Amino acid sequence: MATPNLNEIHDTLIDLAYKAGDIINNALPDTSGPGSKKNSADLVTQYDRAVETMISTSLKEKYPDYAFHGEETYSPTTPLTNAPTFIVDPIDGTINFIHNFPHACVSLGFAIEKIPTVGVVYNPSTKTLYSAIKGQGAFKNRDQRLPLRKAEPLTGLSNALVAIEWGSDRSGPNWTVKTRTFEKLGSSKENGGAMVRSFRSLGSAALNICSVAEGVVDVYWEGGCWEWDVCAGWVILNEAGGLIVDGNPGGWENERELVEEFWGFIQGRLTY
Ligand code: IPD
Repeated sequence: MATPNLNEIHDTLIDLAYKAGDIINNALPDTSGPGSKKNSADLVTQYDRAVETMISTSLKEKYPDYAFHGEETYSPTTPLTNAPTFIVDPIDGTINFIHNFPHACVSLGFAIEKIPTVGVVYNPSTKTLYSAIKGQGAFKNRDQRLPLRKAEPLTGLSNALVAIEWGSDRSGPNWTVKTRTFEKLGSSKENGGAMVRSFRSLGSAALNICSVAEGVVDVYWEGGCWEWDVCAGWVILNEAGGLIVDGNPGGWENERELVEEFWGFIQGRLTY
């Protein structure tokens, strides 16, 4: 198999992201309503499926040797392998899309040996594009190198803006860990909390990661993401100088004080 041409793949993914954006922006209200997957907070629309079909058809035609792994066609019988693989979330932030909340995106990643290598994330409502190739830097709208200038140096959790997501599991151990941790992070220091400056819950894992890459959010903590939620953002964040670590304390190698500080406030262990 020929060595993947990462620059060509990057440009192809950007073209597809714009095409997907046109489908998303021209979507008509779905009179039959969204379909639910796991429960009423885990939704899928005809547009998630239409965008994924358009993307997978184009990629399989242009790159027949590479695997395709998409949210709407995923099956546990075909797990992610080490092969060069496109990892795609056609609409990340489906609930936002359904509500016309302008914070959904198409998230297009390419991984080799499970290492995120090319990432393209596009929010068609705001026409914001994030993209990166491993080793070549990360960019917003192709010409602004990430991270952008920060207004204020980050000194720890007490001046951090933290992205969190409620997710679709609303009971069980992960729900308990999440809600207790949110409380701890937000509580005053006198009450043993971190008193983070504030939380943002914007409804798209990929855009949350890109917000950290951009420097407008400092930390994003999540339990329950899939590979298509994070692959593209992962490259973008790493190339912007950011770091992805385990949601649970001590799971991955880490050299940053902020991560240690954050792990110290997690109430229990997330199960994946
Ligand atoms: C979801 C969103 C959400 C995150 C979930 C994802 P979807 O993706 O990114 O913010 O909390 O973990 O599954 O369902 O909108 O593609």
